Amino acid sequence: IYGPKRPNSRGVNLNVRSHFYPLMEKMADFMDKQYLAKPLLAFDVADDAANTHEVTSPFDRRQRVGHVQWTTNEQAAKAVDAAWEAFPRWEATPVAERAAVLRRLAELMEDNMAELMALCSREGGKLLTDGVDEIKEAVDFCRYYAMRAEESLGEPIELPGPTGESNRLILGGKGVFAAISPWNFPVAIFCGQIVAATVTGNTVLAKPAEQTSIVAHRVIELLYEAGLPRDVVQLLPGDGPTVGNVLTSDSRITGVVFTGGTDTAQVINRALAARENAPLPTLIAETGGMNAMIVDSTALPEQVVVDVVQSAFQSAGQRCSALRVLYLQDDVADRVITILQGAMNELRMGDPRDLGTDVGPVIDEEARKGLLEHIERLKAENRMVAESPMAAEHTQHGTFVAPVAFVIDSINSLTREQFGPVLHIVRYKARELDQVIKDINGRGYGLTFGVHSRNESFAAEIARNIRVGNVYINRNIIGAVVGVQPFGGQGLSGTGPKAGGPHYLQRFITEKTVTNNT
Ligand code: SER
Repeated sequence: IYGPKRPNSRGVNLNVRSHFYPLMEKMADFMDKQYLAKPLLAFDVADDAANTHEVTSPFDRRQRVGHVQWTTNEQAAKAVDAAWEAFPRWEATPVAERAAVLRRLAELMEDNMAELMALCSREGGKLLTDGVDEIKEAVDFCRYYAMRAEESLGEPIELPGPTGESNRLILGGKGVFAAISPWNFPVAIFCGQIVAATVTGNTVLAKPAEQTSIVAHRVIELLYEAGLPRDVVQLLPGDGPTVGNVLTSDSRITGVVFTGGTDTAQVINRALAARENAPLPTLIAETGGMNAMIVDSTALPEQVVVDVVQSAFQSAGQRCSALRVLYLQDDVADRVITILQGAMNELRMGDPRDLGTDVGPVIDEEARKGLLEHIERLKAENRMVAESPMAAEHTQHGTFVAPVAFVIDSINSLTREQFGPVLHIVRYKARELDQVIKDINGRGYGLTFGVHSRNESFAAEIARNIRVGNVYINRNIIGAVVGVQPFGGQGLSGTGPKAGGPHYLQRFITEKTVTNNT
């Protein structure tokens, strides 16, 4: 019998907020600045006012962050030409030089932390605590992939020569990658995809999420400042269906690295497969989840609630790792729900730049509308057990959704992933456990999963039987650390390999065997 031994590092950081004061002072310089994010291509792009869109803050739509100029189809096609032309030169650049660019980018992101955090908040609605974690994660990706690339790609692999020939395995890039990234980690995932593809010798066309193109633009400016040639990574802001379609239907795109919804991954998969005379594509996709946690009767209810609140409501539930379905064993369910009601009552919603805020806005009106439809339906069925208070003075100008918890019958009652602060609770009896596991596995998703129990063998057995990418025992289920908790799912949740893991770079490379009989 044992329980949680220590708070994990992310949990501790969340409680120590005073170290933000110096950063907040620096952020002040970037709070009113107006930005223009234009396509950053290998060639100059003229101003195009008719194709420019205003960007406002999710927590207050009266506040403008700046404008984004979208990429035209012609520009996108020309960018693919430039990426192909650059590929052999970049692939021939020594790995140490490619890795050095990533390390310089890491330093530049640290130097510009205040501005990047200001943009994560202003454009993406992120809390400061989430913003700082996010930028540190991007920095970690740069340093980790630089290290892995040098370890594994530096020299050709010498193979045995039993036939008298010499045999070598040479590792190179695949060609041109489209990197299509989400708004919920507009620096970390955006940056992680790009640096993995470039350090392995590929060139990249990066399509940031429409909602967070400005911070993406700033990261690419830093990447150029770090010494990356402009034709190796190009930024193509625009709307998903347009720019995404141009890229995924182009027969010269060798691979796509994508993070976002499962439906979109399937659209991309079909588009890549439908191309004629195109290389058989590589698709690296990290997609959605219907993440569950099982709590048995030996678990510590207070600890469970801390971890549930973080897992379900941190980042306003807008993490692919977030908890969606909490299975509570009947014997402890009432106690956990009572403590959860108390905790949810304390959550404060509002401006993400205010250190007192616990839950910021959801990304946009479309997201809010979708969540509210689901919430209203469950409220009408009298299934609500808790809802956080939402003070109009803090939330009336933004797209906020109050954290809410419902009791439902089973994970099978949900038709799709609800990407926001909505927690579903299912009560189960000990004898129903096998069915619970079957239900969770049966949905076909497999991203994160949690178990809370002081019975070690119980937790270990569940961890063995559950088909997901990341299992967390007696802690929250979010905030995977690069190089420590490689992140990514299986089934409908992704193709693998896992970001921040030792095998990630391998999917971006080709292997050539050279046998020499001279
Ligand atoms: N890597 C993130 C996390 O673990 C993804 O959502 O929370």
